[in-house]
Amino acid sequence: MSAASSNPSDSSRSIPIPFGWFRVADSGDLNSGEVITLRACGRELVVWRTDDGEAVCADAFCPHLGAHLGMGGRVVGDSLVCPFHGWSFDTDGKNCDIPYSDRTNGRARLLTHPVVERNGFVLAWIHPQGLAPTFEVPELPEVLDPEFLPYIVSSYIVNTSVQEMGENAVDRCHFPSVHLNAVPPDIIEYDTTSEIARILSRLLLITPYGDFPGEIEIHQYGPGFSATRFRGFVDTLLVATQTPIEASLSELRFYFTVRKTGYGESSEEEARALALIYTGHIDEQAREDIPIWENKAYIESPALSDVDGPILEYRRWAKRFQVVKVK
Ligand code: FES
Ligand SMILES: [Fe+2]
Repeated sequence: MSAASSNPSDSSRSIPIPFGWFRVADSGDLNSGEVITLRACGRELVVWRTDDGEAVCADAFCPHLGAHLGMGGRVVGDSLVCPFHGWSFDTDGKNCDIPYSDRTNGRARLLTHPVVERNGFVLAWIHPQGLAPTFEVPELPEVLDPEFLPYIVSSYIVNTSVQEMGENAVDRCHFPSVHLNAVPPDIIEYDTTSEIARILSRLLLITPYGDFPGEIEIHQYGPGFSATRFRGFVDTLLVATQTPIEASLSELRFYFTVRKTGYGESSEEEARALALIYTGHIDEQAREDIPIWENKAYIESPALSDVDGPILEYRRWAKRFQVVKVK
């Protein structure tokens, strides 16, 4: 049986979990010496921060006798100590201490995942075959720029795959139907030649200060992380993180920031008020999209119109990140 069906009555929607960089924590939520646990990419994971401040991500089950390292495990120095028999694992996942033995066990290897900490996130590269990262998520200049507000954050657990959510960016014709007041954007450039896809669109920005011809530039850094810049009114950055929990269950988070001194703004409070209005629109759009996403089938060979947007090109790009291909 194929992994996904073109039969519209089959809503199994089993698009495989892709590999890529995925948010596993916000940097500010992980203090030195702390261990957190989460489920991502169909795996039970632990994330800890060493006493020196390094963030580490690993599979959660101890290779000795299987205890969950996030349930009572503790950080000592740069190591994670298992709650069951006290074995320690270093930042490479190697067993570095057995409290009742003079020797360590070379076979006791905790599977760690590459981590970068950037833009306020702990991002883990999770690949089902353990292959090394093939691209990077860059520093986003706005995040460290004091001219920009701190992130305004919202999050959703959505009963769909990250691929279905990502498709929204190129599905231009759903805007008038689902987001009732929105005019469909014109996609004027779409580049999928690398793992970092770029979408440039033009649209009319509807703001409390009037309507402005605007531009939206989206960079999708693989399936788990995107940066969207809205230009033409106030410079804004929307970071969206999409972390698969399971194949058809995902965490979607928005991190929104605006330039403090944008058009028509005289104070940080006004900029923040404007950012909250924008964030409200983004959240409203997510709430409008979610019932569609959660109930739709994945149609492998869709019947498209001439102006639906580059949906098939998006899907070809998305398949770069699948080890098990959708047939
Ligand atoms: S199960 Fe972890 S030390 Fe024994
Ligand atoms: Fe949408």
